[in-house]
Amino acid sequence: MLGLSHRNGKYYYSIFLHPVSRVMKSERFIKNFNLIDNRTSVLDYGSGDGPYKHMLKTYFDNYVSADFEVTNAHHSVRPDIYINDDQTINVEDESYSCVVISEVLEHVYKPHVALNEINRVLVSGGYVVGTVPFFMWEHEKPYDFHRYTYFGLKRMFEENGFEIVKLDYVGDIVGVSTYCFSKLCSVFLKPFRLIKPLHFILKTIVRIPSILYYALVKISFVKSFLRKYFGEYPFGFVFVLKKN
Ligand SMILES: C[S@@+](CC[C@H](N)C(=O)[O-])C[C@H]1O[C@@H](n2cnc3c(N)ncnc32)[C@H](O)[C@@H]1O
Repeated sequence: MLGLSHRNGKYYYSIFLHPVSRVMKSERFIKNFNLIDNRTSVLDYGSGDGPYKHMLKTYFDNYVSADFEVTNAHHSVRPDIYINDDQTINVEDESYSCVVISEVLEHVYKPHVALNEINRVLVSGGYVVGTVPFFMWEHEKPYDFHRYTYFGLKRMFEENGFEIVKLDYVGDIVGVSTYCFSKLCSVFLKPFRLIKPLHFILKTIVRIPSILYYALVKISFVKSFLRKYFGEYPFGFVFVLKKN
């Protein structure tokens, strides 16, 4: 699967190649960097395959990736530094103007401890930009511990010394249903994996409901209607936090 695409200075995941949940969460996540005024240095906490590395290197003067060794072993890219078992990292206080935490908090057994550490390494007035899933099957097993609600996230962020600049729902049950449909169908497509062109065509066909949903969400009336009546079952959340 291709990673984050880049065209005319814009970064995005293609709806034709990636799950709609990833496409929509990352779209909002990337937009949130418009709110960050201090672009000195960024720490990518839980960097995995580093999908945002290129983008963050263009946005910030200095980029450092950090990951948990045991889970990073299943990813294709090694980080600049490892996160210790107790969630600490060997860097001085107030080292970064921004910390990115994308699809990581569900894997952290003690999220309060990690947020406290992120707070420590941020400069005063520094930002955290992140995403977290709400609807997502168990993944990176057995290191998948939590699904958070809006209210759980809000309380957890505030209790760890952050002001919430943004905490937004992304998606709704209509989107989640299209996502489940394509996921369910992909099980039946497995026997076709060896015939690559046919497999690609079939995979695109089962994505059609997600693609249509994504196109509809671009119409703001439909978006607010979906959010109002179906919004309590989102793909997940995007957030921007500021260190108090
Ligand atoms: C779903 S991947 C997300 C990777 C990347 N941030 C992205 O957006 O694609 C989850 C990441 O969390 C990391 N991780 C797992 N347990 C962790 C922990 N306790 N503390 C920090 N990161 C952890 C994994 O190594 C992995 O890189």
